[in-house]
Amino acid sequence: MILIIQLLLIMPSKTNVAAESAADPMAECPGSCGGVPIPYPFGIGPNCSMQGFELTCNTNNNGTYGLFLGSFPILNINLSLGEALINMPISYQCYNDTTKMYDYVDWWMDLDISHFRFNHQKNKFTVIGCSTVLAVVNFTNSHDSYLGGCVAGCDSVESLIDGSCSGIGCCQTSIPQGTNQIEFWFNNNLTKTEVYSFSRCDYAMITVGDEFTFNTSYITSDLLLKHNMSAVIDWFITNTSCETAKTNISSFACISDNSVCVNSTSGAGYFCNCSNGYQGNPYRKGGCQDIDECSNNNPCSTPAKCRNFEGWYQCYCPFGWRKKHDNSGQCELNLALVIGTCAGIVVLSFLVLSTYIVYEKRKLSKVEEKYFQEHGGRILLEKIQTDQVFGFTIFTKQQVEQATNNFDSANIIGHGGQGTVYRGTLRDQMVAIKKCKVVDERKKKEFGKEMLILSQINHKNIVKLLGCCLEVEVPMLVYEFIPNGTLFHYIHEKIQGSQISLSTRLKIAHESAEALSYLHFSASPSIFHGDVKSLNILLDQNYTAKVSDFGASLLSPTDEVQFVTLVQGTCGYLDPEYIQSCHLTDKSDVYSFGVILLELLTSKPVIDFDVPEEKRSLSSCFLSAMKEKKIEELLDDEIKNEDDMEVIMQVAELAKECLNMKGDERPTMKEVAEELDRIRKLKQHPWGQEYHPEETETLLGQASYGIIELDQHSGYFSLEKKARKGIASGR
Ligand SMILES: *[C@@H]1O[C@H](CO)[C@@H](O)[C@H](O)[C@H]1NC(C)=O
Ligand SMILES: *[C@@H]1O[C@H](CO)[C@@H](O)[C@H](O)[C@H]1NC(C)=O
Ligand SMILES: *[C@@H]1O[C@H](CO)[C@@H](O)[C@H](O)[C@H]1NC(C)=O
Ligand SMILES: *[C@@H]1O[C@H](CO)[C@@H](O)[C@H](O)[C@H]1NC(C)=O
Ligand SMILES: *[C@@H]1O[C@H](CO)[C@@H](O)[C@H](O)[C@H]1NC(C)=O
Ligand SMILES: *[C@@H]1O[C@H](CO)[C@@H](O)[C@H](O)[C@H]1NC(C)=O
Ligand SMILES: *[C@@H]1O[C@H](CO)[C@@H](O)[C@H](O)[C@H]1NC(C)=O
Ligand SMILES: *[C@@H]1O[C@H](CO)[C@@H](O)[C@H](O)[C@H]1NC(C)=O
Ligand SMILES: *[C@@H]1O[C@H](CO)[C@@H](O)[C@H](O)[C@H]1NC(C)=O
Ligand SMILES: *[C@@H]1O[C@H](CO)[C@@H](O)[C@H](O)[C@H]1NC(C)=O
Ligand SMILES: *[C@@H]1O[C@H](CO)[C@@H](O)[C@H](O)[C@H]1NC(C)=O
Ligand SMILES: *[C@@H]1O[C@H](CO)[C@@H](O)[C@H](O)[C@H]1NC(C)=O
Repeated sequence: MILIIQLLLIMPSKTNVAAESAADPMAECPGSCGGVPIPYPFGIGPNCSMQGFELTCNTNNNGTYGLFLGSFPILNINLSLGEALINMPISYQCYNDTTKMYDYVDWWMDLDISHFRFNHQKNKFTVIGCSTVLAVVNFTNSHDSYLGGCVAGCDSVESLIDGSCSGIGCCQTSIPQGTNQIEFWFNNNLTKTEVYSFSRCDYAMITVGDEFTFNTSYITSDLLLKHNMSAVIDWFITNTSCETAKTNISSFACISDNSVCVNSTSGAGYFCNCSNGYQGNPYRKGGCQDIDECSNNNPCSTPAKCRNFEGWYQCYCPFGWRKKHDNSGQCELNLALVIGTCAGIVVLSFLVLSTYIVYEKRKLSKVEEKYFQEHGGRILLEKIQTDQVFGFTIFTKQQVEQATNNFDSANIIGHGGQGTVYRGTLRDQMVAIKKCKVVDERKKKEFGKEMLILSQINHKNIVKLLGCCLEVEVPMLVYEFIPNGTLFHYIHEKIQGSQISLSTRLKIAHESAEALSYLHFSASPSIFHGDVKSLNILLDQNYTAKVSDFGASLLSPTDEVQFVTLVQGTCGYLDPEYIQSCHLTDKSDVYSFGVILLELLTSKPVIDFDVPEEKRSLSSCFLSAMKEKKIEELLDDEIKNEDDMEVIMQVAELAKECLNMKGDERPTMKEVAEELDRIRKLKQHPWGQEYHPEETETLLGQASYGIIELDQHSGYFSLEKKARKGIASGR
């Protein structure tokens, strides 16, 4: 029984479709069949394909679903290679030992000579069998011509080798270029009796050489028939070369821009491709589109970056890298640039940062500068620069904060009427830092000036102002630190059992008077303290008096109408005249000092709230006691001593003068200081005991004392005045 099946590519009768249909966008044409995409020039249905490339879908005589080129199932169409993969049938013959005949299945394969060839590079003729001679024949109507042949033989199953196709059970040979017709002829003269037991059939087919591997079971069973064999066919638009095709522009198929013509590997015709860098369908207008090489996976080796252009792309090195000199397209670090840039960035950010810091500082220092100006800092600073004020420093806010441990309340050593006083260490020196309370407008303007004057005061009985800090909201004053507290505490809160001798009291009184006298007469301009009280007289280890707290002070008015609007001072010490007139004079200080003298004499509080109202004020008690000559009752028991009575009485007399209701009639501070000096010396060297001829002033003082003794209540004051005038005119 011989079965010969013809496989044909039937040439279409319509020949004029191709060019025109190619121009039309074929929206209604099926794009794929059975999962196989159909690119133009292939197509299904009328006007969907180029002439010679019509395919069918789902229709063959066996009812198998799929895409067909004639009777060949199409597995894949490759546009850029001009290839298609088709399913190939297997031809075979099997020996029937009973009939001593062969049964045949022999395929006769014919491709449309105008458009298709068997690919001679990828395909192989393959024969499988143990006693087989195959002839491959190019048949024509006129005469057949042999295309090739192959012999496969074996004597036992054992001789077969899996995967080896070199003549033992399997033989392969190449296909000549340009083949479009094939028929396999088996030699059926060979005797099969020796191999019949294990190899009854011989097979012949076209295989894609790379994909076929021989399996010994193909000999011993009909396993091979269950495999689909495929072959690669070349297709081309016409059977002319590119050069020839281009001469006829109207029929030339590569119509897209950026398309190129390619000679088919079969050597028989041409097909089209998109130019490098483009993809799409070269057979359609505008079919070739630029490939964005950069969009998917970067074709440039990292760290190179990719930039797409129409038809090409460029790899370029990112910032800080440069192309290697070896043209490999790779990038290497451009160290100089990187370092330069880094340095630039560092410098730039440094600049930005420092500008910012400077700006912030400016903002802050503007505030500080404002305070500085408000507090008269400019005047002070200029003075300091021009006049060379030694020992006075303008401290920065930071220094002051550091010194007081950020104004730690543990460092507070006193709350005054004018502010809070902190202990601190500045430049290894103990200091007292006074943080003023909010100052009024007048003070703000005058502050710098006053401070300058205070800073110039250098008197051993006045607390030295070392400096100030003006950069803060309220000014801060830095004083020398006086360790032993105030006179007030010394008198009124003295340690049990300790006594304060009369001479210590006189020393303190005298030194305080000297200080005030200096302020009134030696300072230029004069300074009126305004708040003289025992709390404002500090004592050092040697009980040296140090007048402090100039918060209420007033520079002697240059302009007579200048008055203080607010009477400052402390109850009990306040000059009654000052209360009425609101006019602070040097005599107001004298009055207050008189009260201090009373404190020193009596050790009694200036205002005693524990006694009836008429006896509350120490000064009025004292004045009435003086009138009634009962002064002794008031005196502190510690100093009541018959020997000192004269001295005490003189101090009391001086205090009475100081407490005169009329300011004009009070002695000046200078007179008070001189009188106290005289009294001190009298205490140290009572009349007649010691005589120092060189102490002329003392002599004068003592002489006047003698007169006072004679006329205690009338002559004393007038004589003192005369003595003072005498001294004054003598200078
Ligand atoms: C195919 O194209 C021709 C020529 O343009 C046209 O006459 C014919 O109607 C088209 N056929 C279909 C099915 O579109
Ligand atoms: C088509 O059908 C016939 C029997 O009708 C069968 O012998 C042949 O192998 C089939 N061909 C294909 C390609 O399936
Ligand atoms: C065509 O062949 C090329 C090269 O082998 C391949 O890259 C491409 O994917 C193939 N196209 C199709 C549709 O199989
Ligand atoms: C050989 O041929 C005979 C007669 O036609 C048939 O009966 C038998 O089945 C065949 N043997 C084989 C193995 O095909
Ligand atoms: C090209 O094909 C045509 C038929 O379509 C044929 O007549 C002609 O001889 C062929 N030319 C070549 C060079 O193969
Ligand atoms: C096959 O035969 C035809 C006609 O004789 C011829 O044109 C063609 O070149 C032959 N093919 C091969 C591969 O020899
Ligand atoms: C087969 O043998 C016959 C006679 O023995 C011979 O005429 C014929 O050419 C041979 N066929 C082949 C293909 O060798
Ligand atoms: C040969 O075929 C058999 C049966 O399908 C399979 O088990 C074996 O792995 C195959 N051998 C090779 C080398 O492919
Ligand atoms: C062979 O091809 C047919 C149709 O193309 C398919 O249905 C079948 O599964 C294939 N067989 C193998 C083993 O690939
Ligand atoms: C195509 O083939 C012809 C000759 O067969 C040759 O002259 C021509 O250069 C080829 N063209 C290309 C683009 O390969
Ligand atoms: C006062 O100074 C003396 C030393 O002169 C010292 O012993 C005493 O503790 C000090 N008192 C105070 C309260 O500082
Ligand atoms: C206290 O007096 C002593 C002795 O006169 C002297 O050395 C010392 O420096 C004085 N202290 C102060 C703080 O003035």
